[in-house]
Order: sequence, then C-alpha cells, then structure tokens
Amino acid sequence: MEPHASTHISLTRHLSDDILNHCDVLVVGVAEEEAWSQSAHDVDARQGGWITRGIASGVISTKRGDMTLTPSPVAGGPDAILVVGLGDPDLIDRGRAYELGAMITRKLSDKPRAHVVISIADQIAEESHDALVCGAVTGCEGQSIYSSQRSIHPPTTLSFADIDDESIRQGRIIGESVNLTRRLVNQPPNMIFPDSFARIATDIAKEAGFEIEVWDEQRLAEERCRAILAVGGGSVHPPRLVIMQHRGGAEDDPVLAIVGKGITFDSGGLSIKPADGMVDMKCDMAGAATVLSVMRAATMMNLPINVLGICGLAENMISGSSYRVGDVIETRAGVRIEILNTDAEGRVVLADALDVAIGHKPVAIVDLATLTGACMVALGRDTVGLMTNDSVLCDQIAACAENEGEWAWELPMFSFFDEQVKSKVADIKNIGDGRWGGAITAAKFLERFVDKTPWVHMDIAGPAFAESPKPHRDAGGTGVMVRTLMRWLIGE
Ligand code: BES
Ligand code: MN
Ligand code: ZN
Repeated sequence: MEPHASTHISLTRHLSDDILNHCDVLVVGVAEEEAWSQSAHDVDARQGGWITRGIASGVISTKRGDMTLTPSPVAGGPDAILVVGLGDPDLIDRGRAYELGAMITRKLSDKPRAHVVISIADQIAEESHDALVCGAVTGCEGQSIYSSQRSIHPPTTLSFADIDDESIRQGRIIGESVNLTRRLVNQPPNMIFPDSFARIATDIAKEAGFEIEVWDEQRLAEERCRAILAVGGGSVHPPRLVIMQHRGGAEDDPVLAIVGKGITFDSGGLSIKPADGMVDMKCDMAGAATVLSVMRAATMMNLPINVLGICGLAENMISGSSYRVGDVIETRAGVRIEILNTDAEGRVVLADALDVAIGHKPVAIVDLATLTGACMVALGRDTVGLMTNDSVLCDQIAACAENEGEWAWELPMFSFFDEQVKSKVADIKNIGDGRWGGAITAAKFLERFVDKTPWVHMDIAGPAFAESPKPHRDAGGTGVMVRTLMRWLIGE
C-alpha cells in the first residue's frame, strides 16, 4: 500500500500574456481602499468595473483571507478568477503571507486544474514573498495520503507574478520541507518505525547532499546508548539513532545542533495509555521529522554554516522485553535514571540523543519533542513551549517564531523545579512530583544532559498535530517550527 505521491508542482515566474489568458485560474488581490494588485486593476478595467461593482454590492470581500471564486468575465481570458481579500496590505507580514498562500492553493485544490497563476505579490512586502510561496506549496498537501480517491488535487503548474527567482526557490524548498515533516507525521506507525525512518532519512540525505550516519542496535550498545535501547526494548522494531551533518561553513566554524524526539508510536509502554490517549500517537516522532526536514532545507539552500541534526528513534511498546517501572538505567552520559513511568519515554530517549549532540561540541542546541500533555494544559494546542538555560538564545528563537508567524512562548525554569526530578535510588527520575508543571519538570530532566551548552527545548506536543483543519491547513501533521528553525539558521 503506497501513499499518494507527494505533489510536484512546477513553479514559475514567467508570465506571458498567453499564460495570463489561458490559465485555469488567475488569482488577484483586493485590499481595502482600492489598493489592489495590478492584475485586479487589469481585470477591473477590462470588464468595466467588474470588481468595483462586486465590492460595492458585497459579492466580493476585501477582508483579509476572504476569497471569491467566479467564472472569469474576461472574454478569452482565464477560465476563472479568484479574488482574494488582502485587508490592510501593510499588515501582511511573513506569517500572514504564508497563510494567504496556503489558503489560496488549499481552496483551489478541490479539483484538478492545470495552471494557476497567483498575482498578488505586488501588494505584499518583498521580504514576505518567499513565505507566500512556501504557504502555497503547503496548501497543496493534506493528511488523506491513503484515501483510495484523491481528495486534494494540487494544480499541475503554479506560477507567481512579481516574485523573484530566489524567493520562489527558497519558498519552495522550505515549503517542501514543511510538507515532508507533515507527511512523515501523517504516515501510520506500521509504515514509519525506527528503521524505515532511518532509511527515508538516508534517501533524503543522498538527494539533498548532507552526511548521514545511522546507529543500529549493535552500534547503540557499543556507544552505551542504554536509554534509547531501554525505551525501544519492548518493540519488534529496534531503535535507531540518526546523525546528520551539513557542513556549509569552514571546518572550524561553530556547529549548531538540532535534536528531535522520534517515538514512532507511543503506546505508553507498561504504564499504558488509555485508548483515547493513544489515538494520535503516531505523531510522537514529529520532533525527529522536523530535524530531518530542516537538515534537508539547510543543505538545499547551501547555508554557509555547520548544522548537526540528531534523531532519537524508538517505538514505545509492550512485551516481555519492555523496560519496566522501577528500572534504573545508566545513560550514555553516565547519569543514572530511575524509570517511574514508562510513558515519560521521550526524555529518556533524548537523554542519549542530547549526549551524542554534546559530543560534537555545538555552540547551541535546540531540541524538539512532542514531550508532554502538560505543555498543552499550560499553553493550549497551538503554542510551542520554550524552555532554556540561556535567555539570549531563547529570545532569539522566540523572535524567529514571531517573525514567521508561528506561536511559541517561554515557560520558566526556576531552580526549585530541580528538586522535583531528584530520585531516591538513582540520580534523577523520569517524572516530576505529581502532575503540576509537568512540561517544566520534563525540561529540567533534559537540562541535565546538555552540560553548559546554550540550549532551547521546544515542547511541540500540541502544535505538531492538529485535531481539526483551519483555512490554511488540513488537520494532522502541521510541520510546526520548520520555518522558525530555518529563520534561525538563515540568521537575518
Ligand atoms: N508523547 C507523549 C506526550 C503527548 C501527549 C504528545 C499528547 C502529544 C499529545 C509523552 O510521551 C507522554 O506520554 N507524556 C506523559 C508524561 C507523563 C507520564 C509524566 C504525559 O504528558 O502524560
Ligand atoms: Mn509517552
Ligand atoms: Zn511520547
């Protein structure tokens, strides 16, 4: 059983009159007070004020994100025109440009169309053009990758007016990487398990051109990654650790590390989850999928920096060889951890993964993990929790998220939380005292494994996987934080 192929859109900026006249849909933008895209003015002029009248009569809305799709009134022109409300164009930042792009292609993917031309960029600040393209690419993909009948039909060719080649290229690379994360998250856990994830990563490394090394269970044992081996012990699918390197900088340039939690399915283990809590647990490898996608994009964009990506992959299952409650495990770093709940497995896997990262002496580490339900209690479904040992780095990351229109918010790491991860029989335990502040006690556990390296932990438990759709994205995997991390790596 193969999923639907991922979409291959040909993106162009070459717009001749011929294309304008023969595309299936021409997308034009109308902002408040007649600040329209040139194409909207053209359509209006050629049709004796067709858009003007539409707005006056209330058939066409200029409110940002409102869309009116009608057969074209232009004789010999495109088959249909999609009039997109832009609201106040000065308010269209990168996040909103991304959403507009995604809303447009999502709307137009309801049936097959050969050629869609998006002509709204002249109303959007140049620095947001790649975000518009990026959104348009993500709007072409959804979670129904195994439905017998395709329900999403992206256009065969998508063209953009008034966007330069570099913005198209960058928007496309990052958009495809967002889609890669979403697709990996949406693929079911009988297809995505540690070894299959590692093989996919190897294929992508070849394609994109970054270095990759995969540690199998023997190598993990040699490397003393007993924490990863413990979590994966109950599964017929043995764990893996994937180490990826993009060397775009000089040999002795600093290394930036990103580390992802890759639990390909989280049953909770012997501390088993209730049935309802297990339903979406294919999403528990979203952190690892994000790391892989960012490595792909960083390499394809030839960023002049050195990036290290690490995915800790295991399946948290139940069998006679599962790790137990009460087990004490010595991690690769030599820290002894007492397991008091096998469902707090993410931090256990990350303990070894972070230690491997530290071995490469990075100047900064960001980890991503669908780590705690408690983070969703604290911040809701759509906000990423940030926790850190370095407020400068954390502010930087938060600013990147803000810039991209992704929602992230810092939670405190007060020192009294340290008490809560102390164990009576070992160095630390893998749960806090009771449920309060659970996102923070999880981060306090992780902090033990990053040494003094500046580090930001992103708890993406809520935002990585959406229960319901929004106008700009389907439900399912969201690809959250790919754009934020790319902003951080691009470093503007
Ligand atoms: N993968 C879950 C966290 C999660 C919950 C992700 C909901 C996405 C949606 C994690 O491994 C987990 O089970 N955490 C426990 C920790 C607890 C046992 C201390 C939780 O949040 O309940
Ligand atoms: Mn769990
Ligand atoms: Zn988990």
